[in-house]
Amino acid sequence: MLLPSHGANASALYKAVGITMPQEVIDVSENVNVDGFPEKIKEYWPSLLTKLATYPNEQAEPFYTDIADFHEVQKSHVVVTNGAAEGLVTLAQFFRGKDIALLEPSFSEYKRTLQQQNCTIHSIISDDISHYRFNEQALNELLLRVSAIYICNPNNPTGVLLKKEWIEDLIQKYPHCYFVIDEAFIDWTDEAESVVALTNTYTNLFVLRSMTKMFGLAGVRLGYVIGKQADKLRCFLPHWNVSNIAIELGSICLQEQQFVKKSREKSGRLREEMSVVLKNLGCTISDSSANFFLFKLPNRLNPDAFFSHLLNRGIVLRHTKNYVGLDGEWFRIAVKSEEIWAKCKEEIINYVENH
Ligand SMILES: Cc1ncc(COP(=O)(O)O)c(C=O)c1O
Repeated sequence: MLLPSHGANASALYKAVGITMPQEVIDVSENVNVDGFPEKIKEYWPSLLTKLATYPNEQAEPFYTDIADFHEVQKSHVVVTNGAAEGLVTLAQFFRGKDIALLEPSFSEYKRTLQQQNCTIHSIISDDISHYRFNEQALNELLLRVSAIYICNPNNPTGVLLKKEWIEDLIQKYPHCYFVIDEAFIDWTDEAESVVALTNTYTNLFVLRSMTKMFGLAGVRLGYVIGKQADKLRCFLPHWNVSNIAIELGSICLQEQQFVKKSREKSGRLREEMSVVLKNLGCTISDSSANFFLFKLPNRLNPDAFFSHLLNRGIVLRHTKNYVGLDGEWFRIAVKSEEIWAKCKEEIINYVENH
């Protein structure tokens, strides 16, 4: 049975497992901000109509300058992309044919985009999923042999936030190796572990950022890459790769730091509450700093039967069958709202206590 390889695809998932989709479904398989986009966007929305007929600025101004100002980096070190997803495609083109290390489990698009460019993948699988730790010796040996490593921080799907010092130490130790640090979810943390500022120092670093998760713009597609060698990625991008609408919304969102703070605090509180409930049920939890985390049922329970039961009850968890090292035994759950969690909690408790 081939399940959809990403979350946020409930109808395809129900079809694949052969379960009739209930009228009402709670989808906690995707990680977009439950509060949607900042209110300010509604105010500006009518004025965006005037932008429809004109071509966007080639470098995505004014968003391009706003990113550089926001992160205190040089403008020439920024490339605006059509979602972080396009950043991954251009990076893979840049690494074409090379040997690349991946820390697994992680976002499946790394492997897919790199394989499209004939890269050879060398995976290191975490030996402690809950804390997303790796055998340091194996990692150090691998870094001597590869051209680049991709690290997702906080990691999708574990939500574990790795330390900036640990990453910087590796960047310094292996200057021949590029470090691609995917910070698509780092705005759900206080950003203390972000390595964006290190792009001012190190040439072998690219940082990927997404505007779609925190700012509820998954349908708009907007992200960027920061790195001293950002120029090397530009040649792979189509002209006008991001729309006028995306550019304008991006500039508005970067100013919405109160919205970010509120979303982050709300999500952090709820994540802790959810973790306590699941731990009390005997589940194992990943040590997440993001707006999602992993949980694993007590050993006596069958994960496939649980997943199907919840689907029948209209609750869509993110399966982990296509994540190396998780193999369907873990589930990723998004931190949404109190109401959504109340419904999930009731169904999960009922299942675990009665099986
Ligand atoms: C870790 C990670 N990086 C990048 C992306 C792509 O994000 P975007 O919507 O900005 O293309 C995703 C999307 O799910 C993701 O999970």
